[in-house]
Amino acid sequence: TQISDNWPGYSLDLFTYPQHYYGDLEYVLIPHGIIVDRTERLAKDIMQDIGDNDIVVLCVLKGGYKFCADLVEHIKNLSRNSERFISMKVDFVRLKSYHNDQSMQDMQIMGGDDLSKLTGKDIVGTGRTMKVLLNNIEKYKPKMIKVASLLVKRTSRPDGYRPDYYGFEIPDLFVVGYALDYNEHFRDLNHICVINDHGKAKYRV
Ligand code: IMP
Ligand code: MG
Repeated sequence: TQISDNWPGYSLDLFTYPQHYYGDLEYVLIPHGIIVDRTERLAKDIMQDIGDNDIVVLCVLKGGYKFCADLVEHIKNLSRNSERFISMKVDFVRLKSYHNDQSMQDMQIMGGDDLSKLTGKDIVGTGRTMKVLLNNIEKYKPKMIKVASLLVKRTSRPDGYRPDYYGFEIPDLFVVGYALDYNEHFRDLNHICVINDHGKAKYRV
């Protein structure tokens, strides 16, 4: 699940994507189908580790909503087709920290009333967001906290946070799609893609 720094990605011509993003993307880093397949395996691993515990899934909005929804769906399918039925609650928090493609200092956490045992997240960049969130969750003293993130970036930061489960380790690139945004754009793109300079300029704020 390591995507190397020299991985050229897939040509955009091999897939379909919204016409309003034509000219704004460089290449496809991870096609949608592979994301879903990998998420299914994460669901299986999580099921195995969780045992008989009930879980509260805490989805980190907005960027984590696709990953969280697909992960929950896979856990439900696996659970329904096995002897062991896991009861699940779902809660949501919203975090905001990025401006253009830069991580900002101040972080806002909104919503979320339940204590969590499992969090579903889009991407761990610097890991700063995750640490702030975990500090807040630990106050509720949950029995167990596990973090699942679709992507982990290979950043040079030494304090990089490592989730318990992750889909892919990717180069230190700014990526969009599958609910990940650039100033709220590109969430409606299925594949995880790298945007080009034209796209960055077009949607800069
Ligand atoms: P961190 O604090 O640098 O780990 O950033 C975490 C949050 O920033 C993630 O939850 C994302 O919402 C957002 N983020 C980080 N990297 C990217 C990226 O490459 N594309 C889009 N959003 C990103
Ligand atoms: Mg964002």
